[in-house]
Amino acid sequence: MADMLDWTSADLEKLDTKTYEGRADEMAARLVEETGAGRLPFLTMPYAAMLKQELADLKDYLKTFDHMLLLGIGGSALGARALQQAFFPQQDQPGHVGPSLWIGDNIDAYALEAYLAKLPPEKTVIVTVSKSGGTIETVGQYFILKEWAQKHLGDRWSEHMLLVTDEEQGFLRGEVETYGIKALAVPDNLGGRYSVLSAVGLIPAMFLGMDIDALMSGAQEVAALLTDPELTGEALAGHSSFQLAVWAAALQDKGFDEMIFFAYIPLWASFGDWFAQLWAESLGKEGKGSQPVPALGVTDQHSVNQMFMDGIRNKACLFLTCPSLPAGPKFPSDLPDQFEYVRGKDFGELLQAEGLGTQMALSQNGVPLVELRMGEDGPKQAGKLIALLGAATILTGWLMGINPLDQPAVELGKRLAKARMNADGLDEEKADLNEYLTADRDIREF
Ligand code: PA5
Repeated sequence: MADMLDWTSADLEKLDTKTYEGRADEMAARLVEETGAGRLPFLTMPYAAMLKQELADLKDYLKTFDHMLLLGIGGSALGARALQQAFFPQQDQPGHVGPSLWIGDNIDAYALEAYLAKLPPEKTVIVTVSKSGGTIETVGQYFILKEWAQKHLGDRWSEHMLLVTDEEQGFLRGEVETYGIKALAVPDNLGGRYSVLSAVGLIPAMFLGMDIDALMSGAQEVAALLTDPELTGEALAGHSSFQLAVWAAALQDKGFDEMIFFAYIPLWASFGDWFAQLWAESLGKEGKGSQPVPALGVTDQHSVNQMFMDGIRNKACLFLTCPSLPAGPKFPSDLPDQFEYVRGKDFGELLQAEGLGTQMALSQNGVPLVELRMGEDGPKQAGKLIALLGAATILTGWLMGINPLDQPAVELGKRLAKARMNADGLDEEKADLNEYLTADRDIREF
């Protein structure tokens, strides 16, 4: 079955899409310029051939380990987790033997203590992923794991390290040069949230035995038209990424300032978190954007769905389905009468029925909805989804008149935290902190 988008419930007739549709030529010209200048490598993938070779060279080395501990945060971790959950669910299932991937993407002392106490050093590779090479949450864990590796492995510690970072700059690149640690590059202009189909996500994917070629070819299939140097507005207008961008921008104009990502492919739940970061960090700018809301079918039908259905009418929805998911076991045929309707049917049929019910109920309750219907739930489709949503995000940002590739607003909190830890400089932040902490506070015990 083909992968498709179902626009029937998108409420296009209630939106003013014309203005944005009329900008197809401008958007096509911009894509030609940006891809030509190498500024959208997640679409053009100029690094693909070399990366495939580098990954092939790493294969035997990685096979010598049972555990991979990935240290990274934000875009340096969320894509890897989405792929892990989607295509390596066995690690969370009873009786798992084989490789295990652990992702340290927080300042979580419990988790870190557990890694230090329980991971077997001889069988563990530590992969530190940071484009900038200086993110304290990641580098801080690297320092601790480096000491751990040195203690347990002596001179061989660096053989258990793999760094994924900028080709030239940053603290981690310095570590590569000082200690001769194996490293793969995060290509120029490939920001974290757009980087899953580079070494960032593909090293852990390969370690877990996923079909990397299928992931990349899926993405390349979606990106082919968008990276055509002869791209026209007319051709772009027919591409799903542009149509989604037009829809998303027009929705915002009508006050739809939340975008639900409702996944009815249970194993793909973590793509919701990946999407949330992609959408939020790219589009939350200058008082604009729509808040991404990841949700999981059917679990969240018994949770946040009440708000989707009958809360503020400010929500639109990307509804992810796959009609060809495994059927699973059959329900027994000797069930009580009240459950007669499932007797002898496939367990998986219930998921599809509930997905259909929720989809229909949402659109009947004023939630404009586009169904992303995947023909299969394989890695090729995941690659297509990643490229489609990445491109749609970029185009939405351009239509909104903001830069979807930066995230300047997250810096303030980071600077204040550094000031709190008494980092050099940051005098203004230190003064602001002092004022904040010494002001009268309204504190009440509970
Ligand atoms: O998407 C992004 O650019 C961010 O979420 C980064 O991935 C995150 O801040 C981590 O940055 P770095 O990879 O430089 O450590």
